[in-house]
Amino acid sequence: MSQQKAQLTIEGKVYDLPIIEGTAGEKALDIRSLMRDTGYITFDSGYMNTGSCESCITYLDGDKGILRYRGYDIADLAENCVFIEVAYLLLTGELPTKAELDQFKYDMTRYALIHEDMIHFFDHFPPNSSPMSILSTMVATMHDFYPEMDLEEDPYGGLTTTTARLLSKIRTTAAFSYKKNIGHPLVYPRPDLSYCANFLNMMFDRPNMPYTVEPVAVIALNKLLILHADHEQNCSTSTVRLVGSAGVGLYPSISAGIHALWGPAHGGANAAVMLMLERIYRDGKNYDKYIAMAKDPNNPYRLSGFGHRVYKTYDPRAKLIKEVCTAVLETLNVKDPLLEVAQELEYRVSNDDYFVSRNLYPNVDFYSGIIYRALGIPTNMFTVMFALGRLPGWIAQWQEMNSSKDSSRIGRPRQVYQGVVSRPFSKIEDRG
Ligand code: ACO
Repeated sequence: MSQQKAQLTIEGKVYDLPIIEGTAGEKALDIRSLMRDTGYITFDSGYMNTGSCESCITYLDGDKGILRYRGYDIADLAENCVFIEVAYLLLTGELPTKAELDQFKYDMTRYALIHEDMIHFFDHFPPNSSPMSILSTMVATMHDFYPEMDLEEDPYGGLTTTTARLLSKIRTTAAFSYKKNIGHPLVYPRPDLSYCANFLNMMFDRPNMPYTVEPVAVIALNKLLILHADHEQNCSTSTVRLVGSAGVGLYPSISAGIHALWGPAHGGANAAVMLMLERIYRDGKNYDKYIAMAKDPNNPYRLSGFGHRVYKTYDPRAKLIKEVCTAVLETLNVKDPLLEVAQELEYRVSNDDYFVSRNLYPNVDFYSGIIYRALGIPTNMFTVMFALGRLPGWIAQWQEMNSSKDSSRIGRPRQVYQGVVSRPFSKIEDRG
């Protein structure tokens, strides 16, 4: 808490509001006692300007395009780490030593199987079920198959058996949901493969056509998952915290986060981008038509993959993903016409005053789908991929909430009621 105070005048009376200052100089007005002192609440639909917590996990400066996990720049992490190393960082606050990482890798192997009884569940989803609904259901179900252990039972650092299990099993679940979706036999995790290689193998290996894991695919997947691993108080993370604040455990909170991520305004945008690019391509690359639709104030249509609540400059994740995208397509010798459509769309948007004046740049979802496509991952799995990446961030935020002094406080926003205030009740027989 800073020594500075802000003053608020309401109906001639002056109130002092404490100022909270973050380690990077961010300032916030502490209005927790506002209602009690003044009778007023603040109004901020969409939480555009509301700080819901103090956090030590991710630092983001949307004006400068900076994103850091636990103080490390994401470009350094994406270039030099594997995904589970970054997961360890987010969860414990420190990068692992070699021995700690080896232990964590071992745990990812140890916990990779899912209970055979859970596998029956996959059989009872209708054909073509969304892998997102399967994923969220299965994560909620883990609550019953793998009772949660609390932080006191820590095997090491800020990690728990529950955390390690969830990180490993969600990968198996995601790959199984794909196999069930296409009606192929399940491929079980292999102890000799790394986290990302194992996932790709479970997705693409088949009895009549063994799969060879391409190193470039493993590198790309590691980078993609790292770049999605946390993003402070976004919609799904806030959902995880809000649901968790009611006192429920990790699995149901994460399951709720998966549901929030599903939406096309959030993690579902990566699939929406692909559908948009395909549509533009099939429409004879009629860019003008789609740009005009997006600019029309009477049309709700938006260009998917553009814009962000907090970035008012190029999303730093999008910049790195764009680089990975061209490198992967080149190495795998994939010629995807949608890459050209994406690049041309970005070029046109970056020269259009409507988008420039509103700071609408490509976001994390704009180029990621083209990489997934090059790796053979279908569009309906894109948001599942996002969920795999975001999981360590969700868990870290859930743990932080539970260990903070505000943890006992349930998340509960207020409202300004605008309905009928009061009217006399009439019995059904008198209502005509
Ligand atoms: N296409 C066209 N216009 C847009 C777009 C877009 N993608 N995004 C924002 N705008 C316009 C809005 O119409 C609005 O214009 P106005 O001022 O004339 O009314 C202005 O830009 C500001 O937009 P808001 O909706 O107020 O911005 P907000 O911060 O609420 O929304 C969001 C951010 C949801 C990401 C939005 O930009 C969007 O819908 N983008 C497309 C979906 C998408 O890519 N989502 C993924 C985001 S990244 C993530 O969640 C992982």
